[in-house]
Amino acid sequence: MKKVLITGGAGFVGIHLSKYLLKNDYEVTLIDNFARPNDDEEFLRVVKHKNCKSITGDIISPNTFQYLQKDYYDYIYHLAAFNGTSNFYNHPVEVLKTGIIGTINVLDWVINQSKGKILYTSSCEAYAGTMKILGEKFPIPTPEEIPLSIDDVNNVRWSYGVGKLTSEVAFNCYKHGRDFDRFCIVRPHNFFGPRMGFEHVVAQFIDRIIKNESPFKIYGGTETRSFNYIDNVIESLVMLMELDETNGEIYHIGNDKEEMKIIDLAKMLFKIADREPNFEVLPAPEGSVKRRCPNIDKLRGLGYDIIYSTEEGLEKTYSWYVDNYDWYSLKGKR
Ligand SMILES: NC(=O)c1ccc[n+]([C@@H]2O[C@H](COP(=O)([O-])OP(=O)(O)OC[C@H]3O[C@@H](n4cnc5c(N)ncnc54)[C@H](O)[C@@H]3O)[C@@H](O)[C@H]2O)c1
Repeated sequence: MKKVLITGGAGFVGIHLSKYLLKNDYEVTLIDNFARPNDDEEFLRVVKHKNCKSITGDIISPNTFQYLQKDYYDYIYHLAAFNGTSNFYNHPVEVLKTGIIGTINVLDWVINQSKGKILYTSSCEAYAGTMKILGEKFPIPTPEEIPLSIDDVNNVRWSYGVGKLTSEVAFNCYKHGRDFDRFCIVRPHNFFGPRMGFEHVVAQFIDRIIKNESPFKIYGGTETRSFNYIDNVIESLVMLMELDETNGEIYHIGNDKEEMKIIDLAKMLFKIADREPNFEVLPAPEGSVKRRCPNIDKLRGLGYDIIYSTEEGLEKTYSWYVDNYDWYSLKGKR
């Protein structure tokens, strides 16, 4: 039985990944400091599994790693990050420390293990500065080679993005300075699914549809995004982790097949909810990004393809939010 460690394991991606791995006979250990209140019913259900263990610990502290078994884990998914835009502004030091010191601690621990490959989830936020700097010249769909940058050191929003950017550099420093290449870096693009919180546009629209908002305000609406259902994401993460040829490489993960306008996303959700929309279209917020879509040719070159369509994913996500609304709206907002 393969042994897996997941940092940030109580989070959105962590729990979906744990459920997939436990179903497929892996042993799973989760580390989380519950910076986000993810100790909900779904988390408790997962950690009850006989092959699952949970450690409450903060990756900012090197002591956390002393609770882990030596030379034990085959795969380490390093997902821990202090997400949530409000946290970037309200808790920038914790966001930054988790992003940078947390990753360095994970790396310092793993290079002293005789085995174990790490998959690190960076973010498209690591190149958000480049989007601003290049403007119209920014390539979309965006390939892995895009330069990473921040455009304003005074903006604490970068507490998150700079953690991702620096962590990517850190992995490469350990590759060259410590001869360590048992890692793979991924840049997620717009994942969605059950239990993703209420910050994502999909979750916000569902929330507002459930609350019967009318007129339903759309700011802009012609901007496009490519949404990727969480079950597609998990398939790609596990594949990237387990192929040797991905060692030391960076991959974009996303859905380049179904780039859609935000207003079309809203229409699709209204159709799923079986409601008639009454839209009020207002000007887009200043500086909103017109298009975002990853180039996933490198991932596809490994034999991967999108399995679940956006509509299928939205149906599953909508019904999950309806079924879990009462307790999730109380506990899940953060
Ligand atoms: N969901 C997306 O669309 C998306 C997009 C871009 C990047 N990512 C990246 O993918 C990863 C997983 O994302 P997610 O959506 O599951 O996020 P999430 O916020 O749901 O989960 C992250 C978990 O990390 C934990 N955590 C925070 N600081 C910690 C610390 N110092 N020590 C231990 N645990 C800590 C949080 O409590 C949380 O449970 C993150 O690294 C995120 O930055 C996700």
